[in-house]
Amino acid sequence: IQYNAIVLAAGQGKRMNVGKNKQFIHLSGQPLIIHTLARFAEDEWCQTIYLVINPAEKDDITTLLHSFDWKDRIVFVNGGEERQDSGYKGLQAVEGETDIVMIHDGARPFIETSYLHQLAEKADYTGAALLAVPVTDTIKQKQNTSLTTLDRQALWAAQTPQAFKYSIIKRAHDMARHEQYIGTDDSELVERLGQSVDIVHGSYQNVKLTTPEDIARAEAILNKTDKGER
Ligand code: CTP
Ligand code: MG
Repeated sequence: IQYNAIVLAAGQGKRMNVGKNKQFIHLSGQPLIIHTLARFAEDEWCQTIYLVINPAEKDDITTLLHSFDWKDRIVFVNGGEERQDSGYKGLQAVEGETDIVMIHDGARPFIETSYLHQLAEKADYTGAALLAVPVTDTIKQKQNTSLTTLDRQALWAAQTPQAFKYSIIKRAHDMARHEQYIGTDDSELVERLGQSVDIVHGSYQNVKLTTPEDIARAEAILNKTDKGER
């Protein structure tokens, strides 16, 4: 199964608070975005990587990519205001290129090939699939003054990549735009179509780097994988 990847890197990384887009933070001597892109570049099923960026950062990213032989498989796309807008621009760029498309956060550098393949297979079969892990915390729902405890068995924490047949995710994004609805991930937009989305049981290691604490955690994961202890 072949797929195209849309990697979102056009954010500002405000919560990371390092004065620059967090995609440029170094982990084990390599920028975050390079770690993420390499995971797709090394997957034979992945054709083209549509890297959604802030146009002001294009030259810096081009320089970072210079020494990698897979740089020719990357197509730059200008991002938008919100994550959802950046995803939409990526989808417009992919139009007509493949049946299966994956949308991934540039800030999740630890995705592994086996998960990419499970997602591609599921999406090819059912139309839509996302990576998620069982919630480990007890989740409380607060409404006014009353508290209820949600059934943890039924709760999953959504991750990316999320994989879709192109026609489904494009229709979902078109509908959301039409209704001026902003979701928190791409799967939500597909769920709103009434289309079911399959879960691929992911790994707790597939973290998104969001706040400064996540950097030390990411370095620890990298050190562990470097030593081959997965
Ligand atoms: N993203 C994007 N375009 C936007 C906003 C976000 O491509 N307009 C990307 C980010 O670069 C990131 C991913 O979407 O890889 C997930 O978003 P998030 O973790 O929220 O990153 P940022 O928006 O950069 O961070 P923050 O919300 O803290 O500013
Ligand atoms: Mg954000």
